[in-house]
Amino acid sequence: MLEARKRPIGVFDSGLGGLTVVKELTRVLPHEDIIYFGDTARVPYGTRSAEIIRSFSEENTRFLLQKRVKAVVIACNTSSAVAAVHLKNKFKNIPIFEVIEPASIEATEKGKKIGVIGTYTTIGSLAYNKSIKKHLKNAEVFGSPCPLFVPFIEEGETKGKSLKIMAEKYLKGLKKQKIDTLILGCTHYPIIKDVIEAVMGKGVTLINPGKSVTGEIYKFLKENDLLNNQKRNGDIKFFVTDLTERFTKVAEMFLGKGIRKQLEKVEL
Ligand code: DGL
Repeated sequence: MLEARKRPIGVFDSGLGGLTVVKELTRVLPHEDIIYFGDTARVPYGTRSAEIIRSFSEENTRFLLQKRVKAVVIACNTSSAVAAVHLKNKFKNIPIFEVIEPASIEATEKGKKIGVIGTYTTIGSLAYNKSIKKHLKNAEVFGSPCPLFVPFIEEGETKGKSLKIMAEKYLKGLKKQKIDTLILGCTHYPIIKDVIEAVMGKGVTLINPGKSVTGEIYKFLKENDLLNNQKRNGDIKFFVTDLTERFTKVAEMFLGKGIRKQLEKVEL
C-alpha cells in the first residue's frame, strides 16, 4: 500500500475553473501528485440549489476517495459555500479543505470593509459573510454576484472593452461602499484580476482564495508529516465528466500550460 505522504492530493471543482487552484498548489507544492476532478457535464453549479450541489459534491468526493487521495480540496467556491459542512460530516476520515474560511481569514488580516464577489449561490448563501464575521466581529461585508464573468472568461474574453464595462457595472456598489479588501470568490476570477484591479483602484487588496487555501494545505501537510518527499515534480491527472475540444482550450488557459494528453473522461 502506498505510504500516506506519497498519495496524491485530490481537487474537485464544478468544471475547469478549479485549475486556478491547481496552479497555486503546484507553485507552492511542486512535488505533490494531484488528481483533479472537474464536473464538466454538470457545470455551472453557481446557479443551482444548495441541495443538488451537496449531492454532486458528495459524488465528486467519492470519486477522489477511490483514487486514494490523502486530502480533498474543494476548489469550487460554490461547493465550498454550501457543501463543505456536509462533506466534512459525511467523510470524517479524510482531511477536507474548502476555500471560504482561509480566504476570509486572509481578508480579515488585511482589511475591515470587505467585499466578496462570486456566483449567485455563493453570495446568496452568505457563507463568506458568516466566516468573515467569525474572524473579525466588527468587519463590514458587502457581497455582489457577478454571474456573467464566468461565461466571458470561458469564451477567452479576459481583457476587452465589454468585460471592462461589465466589471464597472458589477463593482460599482462595492466601490461606493469604499471597501478596502475584495475576495475573488469564484475559481475563474483570478484570470481577470487585472481588470478588477483597474476598476477598484490600487488601494483595494484582492484576495485569491486558491492562494489562501494553498497556504493552509501546505501547513497541514507539513505539520502532519504528509508532504511528498519525492525529488521529481508531481504528476497531475485530470478527470472530467464531459470532454470537448473547447474544454481543453479553456483548461489550458486556466492552468497556463497544455494538458491535452492527461485529460480523461469518466462516468460517475
Ligand atoms: N467553480 C465555480 C465557483 O468557484 C464557478 C463556476 C460554476 O458556477 O460552477 O463558484
